[in-house]
Amino acid sequence: MEKTARILDSKEQLRFIELSQKLLKNKENEIGRRLTFHVTTFGCQMNARDSEKLIGILKDIGYVEKDDEDADLVIYNTCTVRDNANQKVYGKLGYLHGYKKKNPLMRIGMCGCMMQEPSVIEKIQKSYPFVDMIFGTHNIYQLGELVYLMLGGEDEAARGIEINRRGQIISVWDEPVGIMEDLPTDRKYPFKSGVNIMYGCDNFCSYCIVPYVRGRERSRDPREVIREIERLSADGVTEVMLLGQNVNSYGRGADFDMNFPALLREVCRVDGIERVRFMTSHPKDLSDELIDVMAYEKKVCRHLHLPLQSGSSRLLEAMNRHYDKEQYLALASHIREAMPDIALTTDIIVGYPTETEEDFLETMDVVEKVRYSAAFTFIYSQRTGTPAARLPMVPEDQVHDRFDRLLALVQEIGAEENGKLVGTRQEVLVEQLNEKEPGLVTGRLSNNLTVHLPGDESLIGRIIPVTITESGGFYLRGKKCTHIFQER
Ligand code: 5AD
Ligand code: SF4
Repeated sequence: MEKTARILDSKEQLRFIELSQKLLKNKENEIGRRLTFHVTTFGCQMNARDSEKLIGILKDIGYVEKDDEDADLVIYNTCTVRDNANQKVYGKLGYLHGYKKKNPLMRIGMCGCMMQEPSVIEKIQKSYPFVDMIFGTHNIYQLGELVYLMLGGEDEAARGIEINRRGQIISVWDEPVGIMEDLPTDRKYPFKSGVNIMYGCDNFCSYCIVPYVRGRERSRDPREVIREIERLSADGVTEVMLLGQNVNSYGRGADFDMNFPALLREVCRVDGIERVRFMTSHPKDLSDELIDVMAYEKKVCRHLHLPLQSGSSRLLEAMNRHYDKEQYLALASHIREAMPDIALTTDIIVGYPTETEEDFLETMDVVEKVRYSAAFTFIYSQRTGTPAARLPMVPEDQVHDRFDRLLALVQEIGAEENGKLVGTRQEVLVEQLNEKEPGLVTGRLSNNLTVHLPGDESLIGRIIPVTITESGGFYLRGKKCTHIFQER
């Protein structure tokens, strides 16, 4: 496996896309039909954004997107943050093999965080020889080149790309090659988009594999970020979500002088952008300056995702989180004072090694005090190579019992918090037709809550005034109000 990155160059990659276009055309002429692709995404917002880049490249090459996995090229963009994500991928690969047996033209690519683990690559080579392409998180921009090789392009292009004796194309680098700009990308929604502002993570929380598979923290040049958002706005986007593992450390160690609050203000200045969100915030780096900017800038959405992980100061230290229970609570109440209408959400891990009942009760206490609108609760999953993997696990029955109690509390408090909105007037960005109930559309409040309301396609992409009529716990129902606000 190639360990050191060669310098990737956008121009060179654009040339591979062009060369692949020709090869694909030839193939399509030969077989008398268009070739299709499907990208399946596992995991977080970062992966979802990466998939849009993969889709952009594949569409540019000339592949036609298909809704299901019975396609000529299927790419799995994988997640490895917890073991169940890995198991899901292996399970689904079996299905793909079934499709491939019926369609000899079919090719399968695997990319994303799982591919950064050498043991996974070994396993795929050994047990899943029908996979054609394996590429890592730092190699997604290379897709044009990989497809070029897959379509039979000249081998001389394959500098640093391994083709093993089974013909599997493998390109996984340990290190990133800087940040590629100007490659094609697709968007799932015409009116909203994720925008990467940084990549990787330097925090090394003791349970987490992300720093090992996504590499060191790199911040994207603010001029490129703003340029991308200006282009998105010109293209009809009104909501952007700034993405990074820890956006609060944006600009640290970079060769430009801009921190996250300053970037956020710049983004709010872009004409046509109405809503700005961001993910994820590490409590240890969330500054007063950011709270000021959020409170002052009306375009910044009233939602903050602030991962807690545990309420026990002892475990927080063991987790290498650099804050304790009291500091977290003080931060949360400071944020609420500055923005009383803000919705706080969080991530919590149950069953971290050595977690006692007392530790767990500290977590429950924080949930009761902070009153989250929603919380993602996870059972601790041992990840090979992380410091916590060496520690003894908490017995499974205890973990499940705690998990159930936490989930019940989170749901109860979430429903109470969200119920407070019934009767209020809110602005909703309508995102799509309601999948289950005809005649309804679904959108989001500034605070990220989902709202269902009567409406049709003509509302999609618009920010409209809505009266909240009912709460279903984690979602709301409403109706368009015609007199109250001027529609934006
Ligand atoms: N086990 C369980 N949950 C984890 N997370 C990260 N690593 C693990 C793990 N090993 C959770 C954290 C993080 C979220 C994205 O995933 O809560 O915030
Ligand atoms: Fe993982 Fe911690 Fe980095 Fe989040 S901040 S990605 S939990 S190491």
